[in-house]
Amino acid sequence: PTYETLLVETRGPVTLITLNRPQALNALNSQILADLIAALGAYDADPGQGCAVLTGSEKAFAAGADIKEMMTLSFADVFGGDFFSGYDRVTATRKPIIAAVAGYALGGGCELAMMCDFILAADNAKFGQPEIKLGVTPGMGGSQRLTRAVGKAKAMEMCLTGRMMDAVEAERSGLVSRIVPVSELVDEAVKTATTIAGMGPLAVLANKEMVNAAFETGLKQGISFERRLFHGLFGTADQTEGMAAFSEKRPAKWTGA
Ligand code: HXC
Repeated sequence: PTYETLLVETRGPVTLITLNRPQALNALNSQILADLIAALGAYDADPGQGCAVLTGSEKAFAAGADIKEMMTLSFADVFGGDFFSGYDRVTATRKPIIAAVAGYALGGGCELAMMCDFILAADNAKFGQPEIKLGVTPGMGGSQRLTRAVGKAKAMEMCLTGRMMDAVEAERSGLVSRIVPVSELVDEAVKTATTIAGMGPLAVLANKEMVNAAFETGLKQGISFERRLFHGLFGTADQTEGMAAFSEKRPAKWTGA
């Protein structure tokens, strides 16, 4: 299918989703949300696809929620319509999504990147939660995910002042996994996604689910969850194959069974 505000292509087992509203620096309007929900649903359901990359342009991953679309909304509109809850589809995606961020990732753009499983940053990336300058607050998880990612001091300063963090500071504080030159960002993200897509699909789901559990559980409960999922993988053909392949010094042939 084609989308009004996204470019979606497959590169082998990798789905590359590019936010494409350049005239508004990829500001997240309701059409982008509808397109993202559809594209991520299709990706998650396609057994030929093992990892996704979500990216924007070299100038902006996304400059936030669409201010022009939001400015006239009332409390009844946003509360009654549960504004932004549609983004729960991003975190409900069971297969991995890598955010490849170049340029501005502000407000909802920073929050969308943080909903992904990890962020690869271009050297020109800039992250921020400037909502306070608009008289509001983050509304797509920023106050929670940024705080978990970088700690209270930086998250509080960024939310209260709206200042941006560059790629170096973002890597130093644990918001992004790595920095790559902007010209290599998408290729590097697709390469990383191809590595992930080459792993056993059940193990990929299990690894993602258990790392995410670390943000929802106490340590003892989280470790117990990890152990049970680990135990469960001994019921899969991929565990038998993966360990046999290692001992026979050959590449594994995953079946997802
Ligand atoms: C709607 C936006 C937009 C946004 C940029 N544009 N960001 N439109 N919503 N969030 C539009 C501009 O209006 C402009 O349109 C075009 O994109 C290009 O932007 P410029 O400002 O001309 O570009 P530049 O001078 O390079 O500045 C880039 C920028 C700036 C620093 C990123 O655009 C900016 O500050 N944007 C707003 C960032 C922000 O506050 N984000 C948080 C949004 S609130 P025209 O038609 O004039 O060419 C949010 C809330 C989440 O995300 C939940 C809480 C409610």
